Amino acid sequence: MSEFDLELLSDRQDRKGFRCGRESLERYLREVAKGHLSKGVSITRVLVERGTQKPKAILGYFTLTSTVASAVNWPGTAKGLPSMPVPLVLLGKLAVAESWQNRGIASLLLAAARQIAAASMRGSGGIGLAIDPADEDLVAFYAKYGFQKVDDHSLRMFLPIDSLC
Ligand SMILES: CC(C)(COP(=O)(O)OP(=O)(O)OC[C@H]1O[C@@H](n2cnc3c(N)ncnc32)[C@H](O)[C@@H]1OP(=O)(O)O)[C@@H](O)C(=O)NCCC(=O)NCCS
Repeated sequence: MSEFDLELLSDRQDRKGFRCGRESLERYLREVAKGHLSKGVSITRVLVERGTQKPKAILGYFTLTSTVASAVNWPGTAKGLPSMPVPLVLLGKLAVAESWQNRGIASLLLAAARQIAAASMRGSGGIGLAIDPADEDLVAFYAKYGFQKVDDHSLRMFLPIDSLC
């Protein structure tokens, strides 16, 4: 990421100017993400070009949160997981600014998210990284990065911790 910096969301970046083509993800960044970060609900990180003046344009962002879920059919995990809910990290949001799409920014963001999630789970437990793609097309997109469908009843996808990095 030599020409870019990954930063925690703050007032130093222009979250109001972010446009990715999906209104719910623009609104989340503009109105919700910073409050969730300050309350410890989730952590949003943004990618900016190195050396730009504030407010810095946001090229893309992702949000991670810790969660628990019942262990049913998590692909690639150890056999014999307890039937009680187990910890994992959820990649709750991922979006790239329209003017930067199709230039590999999502793969940079996904690599960073995987690394951060793995470090966090290696320190405090967790079976892997989950994502809830917004539609079927995105299932194919995340499958390219190794995510596998958890079951047939939702779009949820998963990468076990040993495959994260
Ligand atoms: C989906 C998204 C994150 C991809 O970001 P990006 O930086 O353009 O992705 P990359 O440049 O790393 O990869 C581009 C590849 O993703 C594919 N892709 C982009 N958007 C896609 C979509 N909505 N569905 C399926 N594939 C998609 C492109 O066709 C391209 O495929 P190729 O490598 O085979 O040519 C971005 O288009 C975006 O933010 N979209 C709006 C918000 C959104 O839908 N977020 C996901 C919510 S789960």
